[in-house]
Amino acid sequence: MAEQKNTEFDRPGGYALPTGATLVQRRAAADLASADIRLFGDRVPKHEPCASAAPTTAAVPNGANDAPNPAAAALEPAFRADSPDTRLYIGDCRDILAALPDRGSVDLVFADPPFNWEVPYDGWKDGMPRDAYERFTFDWLDGCIDALASHGTIWVNIPDDTAAEVVLHLKRRGLVMINWCVWHFRFGQNRETSFIMSKVHALCFAKDPDARIWRPERILEPSDRASIYADPRTQAKDRNAGKRVPMDVWYGPYWGRVQGNNKERRTQHHNQLPEAYLERIILSCSDEGSLVLDPFGGSGTTQTVARAYGRRSIGIEHGAANAASSWERITKVGMAHKGVALGVANPIHPQRARGARTITTASIEAPTEHPARRARRSRGEPAQTADRSSG
Ligand SMILES: C[S@@+](CC[C@H](N)C(=O)[O-])C[C@H]1O[C@@H](n2cnc3c(N)ncnc32)[C@H](O)[C@@H]1O
Repeated sequence: MAEQKNTEFDRPGGYALPTGATLVQRRAAADLASADIRLFGDRVPKHEPCASAAPTTAAVPNGANDAPNPAAAALEPAFRADSPDTRLYIGDCRDILAALPDRGSVDLVFADPPFNWEVPYDGWKDGMPRDAYERFTFDWLDGCIDALASHGTIWVNIPDDTAAEVVLHLKRRGLVMINWCVWHFRFGQNRETSFIMSKVHALCFAKDPDARIWRPERILEPSDRASIYADPRTQAKDRNAGKRVPMDVWYGPYWGRVQGNNKERRTQHHNQLPEAYLERIILSCSDEGSLVLDPFGGSGTTQTVARAYGRRSIGIEHGAANAASSWERITKVGMAHKGVALGVANPIHPQRARGARTITTASIEAPTEHPARRARRSRGEPAQTADRSSG
C-alpha cells in the first residue's frame, strides 16, 4: 500500500517530525546526572591539582608580547599575545585548568586528548593502564566543565575505544548531547585483521542547549538537492536557497589527515588536526571576542584558527618544545587555508543527469593501474584482487 502523508500534526505542512534528539537528551539529562553511573576509571583516585607544579616560562619566548611576566603569580601563561588575547600555558592541563582565572567564563572548549596509543609525545607518557587513562579522562573533562560558562559548549575529538566513556561521563555530569559527529578521513593505516579505521568521533555537549552559541549560517554548504540533483525546489526556499547545515559526517578536500608535505603541516607534532575541522566548530559555536579553550594544544590548530577569526583563546600543552613551536604557528604563521573549505559541496555521488552511467567500483580505473590488472582488463577479464591501498 502506498505510504500516506500523516497530516495530524499541529505544525505547518503537517509533516511528522521526530521530537528531536536534543529535546530527548535534555529531558534525560537530569535523570542521568542523578543516576549512579559507574565506569572503570572510577576506582582510581582523582588527580589532586597542583598549580605550583606548572612551569611559568617557556624556553624560547619571541617578541615583546611573548615574554613571560617575571612578577608572575603561581599561574602565568608561558606565552601571551594581544588583539585578541591569546595565552598558552605549559603543564598538565589537569593542574592548569584547576587554577585558571577564567574558570566559569569559557564559551567553547575543543579537546583532542592523547588517545593512550603509545604515541611518542613531547614528554607525555601515552600508555597508561586502562583504569588510570579513564580517570585521567574524567579529570580533564571535569576541569573543562568547570572552565565553561553556563552557556558553554564542549567538543571532544576521541576514537572508538574511548568515545563511550566520554559520552557517559559528560552525561553523568549533566551535560546535554548536541551532536555526535564523525570526522572521516581517507588513508588511515592499512590493515587486514579488521576494517580499516577511517574516523574519529567529534562529540558536542552543552551545559544549556537553549543558551549555547550556535551560528549555522556561517558554515552552510550546497545541499545535495542543489549540487547533485539540480532540484529547483531547493532554490525556491525562502531562506538559504540551495544550502544546508552540513551533515554530521565530515570529510572532503582540506579535511584529510595532515601529513606529508601538506601546507598546514607542522612536522615536529603528532596527530595534527586539519584547520577545516576547527574552522567549522569555531565559526559555528563562538562569536568574535568569545573565549576558546584547548587543553591539549599540540601544534596549536585550535588557537591558530581562533586567532585568525578574532576569538580570544587559551591553550594548554604539556610539552615545552611543542608549545614553543605551536606559538610560532598561532601568532606568526597563521592559517594556511583560511576559508577555502567553507561553503564547498562534498557530494558523495556525482551529479545525476539523464543517461549518465552508473558508477560502480569496477568502472572506476585507478590512475596508477597495475600492469597485470590493465592487461586483464584489456582482455575483458574481471579484476581478481582488491587494491591494497586504503585511500
Ligand atoms: C592529540 S595531540 C593534540 C593535537 C592538536 N589537536 C593539533 O591539532 O595539533 C595531544 C597533545 O596533548 C599534549 N598532552 C598530553 N597530555 C597532556 C596533559 N596532561 N596536559 C596538557 N597537554 C597534554 C601532547 O603533548 C600533545 O601535544
